[in-house]
Formats: sequence, structure tokens, C-alpha cells
Amino acid sequence: MSGSSEIQIAPSILSADFTALGAEIDRVSAVADWVHVDVMDNHFVPNLTLGLPVVEGLVKRSGAPLDCHLMIENPDRWAPAYAEAGARSVTFHVEAAHAPVRLARQLRSHGARAGIALKPATSIEAYADMLPEVDMVLLMTVEPGFGGQAFLDVVLPKIERTRALLRSQETPIWLQVDGGIGMNTIERAAAAGADVFVAGSAVFEADDPAAAVERLRELATSASDGAN
Ligand code: DX5
Ligand code: ZN
Repeated sequence: MSGSSEIQIAPSILSADFTALGAEIDRVSAVADWVHVDVMDNHFVPNLTLGLPVVEGLVKRSGAPLDCHLMIENPDRWAPAYAEAGARSVTFHVEAAHAPVRLARQLRSHGARAGIALKPATSIEAYADMLPEVDMVLLMTVEPGFGGQAFLDVVLPKIERTRALLRSQETPIWLQVDGGIGMNTIERAAAAGADVFVAGSAVFEADDPAAAVERLRELATSASDGAN
């Protein structure tokens, strides 16, 4: 199997200039598969970013579909509104969800792809039975909350185990990694089985963000091909 056509890159605007988000998105939207939007509520994580009103604006403004990563308490209450607002992918943390199956179904019923996110120390095995309910699994490769942290190699075995679980599913489910993804780490994550890559600082702190997206895609594609 070739992994080439399946690799996707989702630049995270957490490392972009928040006073000019529309213009920042324009710098990558022609080459990015998704624009990754990190919603933090200062409760689930010790940081505060943006919420629904900004996402509603970005849905209209962005040339690429929005991939919303909700690092918030009580996603059961708040996540469906992001799908209703037009985010094409909405991912919530399993550690915060009260009824993850019900929530995933609700997100899909609003027309969004549903994703579950796991912090580095959260086991995937507990969620194996609900995989048919989701379109993507996000494995955090840093503790959520901040951009620019170092990639945690300790997550690599979980990426491999998750890929094995996803292979046995009847429908394709994407495996996203987020945190510390850059030129020096993306190949390891791709070889372990990830196919959707979030990158914040590696893209928006580069002189040419679009070129950084293309380079990340090349590196992930060759590492993924080599692993297949
Ligand atoms: C962190 C966020 C990430 C963040 C990644 O909690 O979920 O999306 O933007 O930033 P980098 O790529 O700089 O590690
Ligand atoms: Zn994120």
C-alpha cells in the first residue's frame, strides 16, 4: 500500500499572529489540507485562546476547511456548536467528555467529521470499541496547552498500536498527531503510522510557511512509504 496520497498537513494557527488571523491563514491555505484551530478554555488546559465567535468568522474567511481541536471541559455541552458553525472536523478530548459516543454521533449529525483526542498518558485501548463512531483519532505528542514544546517519543508505541487498531476497522479512520511536529520529528511519527500532521511553530515561525508545509508533506510521505 502506498501512503503518498493519504498524508495530510494541518498548520496550527496557535503559532500565527492573532492580530491578523485571516492573512496568516492565507499564507498556507493553498497548500494545507486543513487549518487547525486550537480552542482552549483555561480549565482543561492552563491556557486561553479563542472560541466560537472567532471560529464562526474563520469558517467564512478560510480557504481551507477548519479542523477544530477543543481543549475544553464539558465538550458535550460546547462541541456541537462548532460543527453547526461549519467546522468540517471537530475533535474533543476523551478525558473531558461525559458521553463520548453520544457526542461523536451529534457531531456527525451536524455534518462534521468527529475526532477523539488523547493526552500522552491516556490509553487508546479503552476506546477501541468506539472507533467506528469516529472519523479521526488525535494522539497528542506533547501535553496539550502550548505550542513550541518538544515532541514526546514516549507516544510512538501508542501511535503504532493505534494504527494497528485502525487497520482492523471497516472504514478508514485518520490518525492525527499534534505537538512538536517539525522537520526533525515528522518522519518518526509517519513511520509509526500517523497520517494527519498538525504543525504550529514549524510552519508559522518559518520564513516561508507554505514551503514549510510542502517540506513536511514530503518528509512524511517518504517516511510513510518506507514503513508500508
Ligand atoms: C497544543 C496544540 C497544538 C499546538 C502545536 O496543545 O494542540 O496544536 O499548536 O504546536 P507545535 O506544533 O508548535 O508543537
Ligand atoms: Zn492542537
